[in-house]
Amino acid sequence: MSSVFYSIHAKTIFVTGANQGLGKALVLELATQGAKRILAAVRDLNSLDWLNEIDKKLADRITPVRLDLTDSSSYTAFENFAETEVIINNAAICLQGSLLELSMDQLRLEWETNFFAPLQIIRLGVQHCPRLEVIANIGSKYRYVSFPVIGNYCATKAALSSITDGLRYDLKNRGIQIQMFYPGAMDTRMALPFSHSKTSTASVAEKIVNTIGNQETDILLTPDSIAMFEHFFANPDQTRKEYETMTFSKYFTPDVESPAQDN
Ligand SMILES: NC(=O)c1ccc[n+]([C@@H]2O[C@H](COP(=O)([O-])OP(=O)(O)OC[C@H]3O[C@@H](n4cnc5c(N)ncnc54)[C@H](OP(=O)(O)O)[C@@H]3O)[C@@H](O)[C@H]2O)c1
Repeated sequence: MSSVFYSIHAKTIFVTGANQGLGKALVLELATQGAKRILAAVRDLNSLDWLNEIDKKLADRITPVRLDLTDSSSYTAFENFAETEVIINNAAICLQGSLLELSMDQLRLEWETNFFAPLQIIRLGVQHCPRLEVIANIGSKYRYVSFPVIGNYCATKAALSSITDGLRYDLKNRGIQIQMFYPGAMDTRMALPFSHSKTSTASVAEKIVNTIGNQETDILLTPDSIAMFEHFFANPDQTRKEYETMTFSKYFTPDVESPAQDN
């Protein structure tokens, strides 16, 4: 795969879901690697109180931005950041439950957060940020095969991958590169109920920051996402049959609920 060196040094970077999990790890990695300004988008500014506890030299590069992805009025915040050069669409929710049993409102909320919000941010970036160079979308290893207990989440992430492909040509004509990053299970709130082994967010964030803008289109970030894609491409039919039988009792830690799931 061809790769071109791109440095985030001295760049202005917009990150959603910046207060915790992978988003927080990305913000810290970007600041450590010398990004000029990190626009840390969160729905609750108080959730960035950890900025008071980190090295002041890093904290000074991080600007909190209030953005609730499900509140269209809060998107005006984005219009004030015309200097943005890189967008990282990281924030998401993951609802546990069958596609037949979750309410339609729950399903729509997940689409709003995981699919329409990143698309809207991309559109606003193209409209308001003349220096925009790279868009990085965070996907899921379930791009090709759905994990039934989070079937709607898998669908939103597969669709995000699909529009990443769908936008590539138009963005290229505007000098903007778009990339899709595929983590597997990580040690975050979202993955709390899952019993899979998990990769640290710090190592995933480092890989993302080192790969952003290098012309790769699909970046597999963890051993389980690499294994998943290899398994699927070697035998799609078999992989789908295996996933069909993956039930809650097999893959969830009993009595652990992710706070992100109950919207
Ligand atoms: N963890 C995994 O195993 C795993 C695996 C594959 C892919 N991913 C992907 O990695 C990315 C990061 O997830 P994570 O594991 O770090 O999960 P997380 O710890 O649950 O963090 C999710 C982030 O999204 C934010 N968010 C959710 N709804 C929002 C809204 N309406 N407006 C603004 N922000 C909102 C959350 O903000 P609040 O704190 O305010 O809720 C939080 O900052 C996601 O795209 C996820 O799909 C995760």
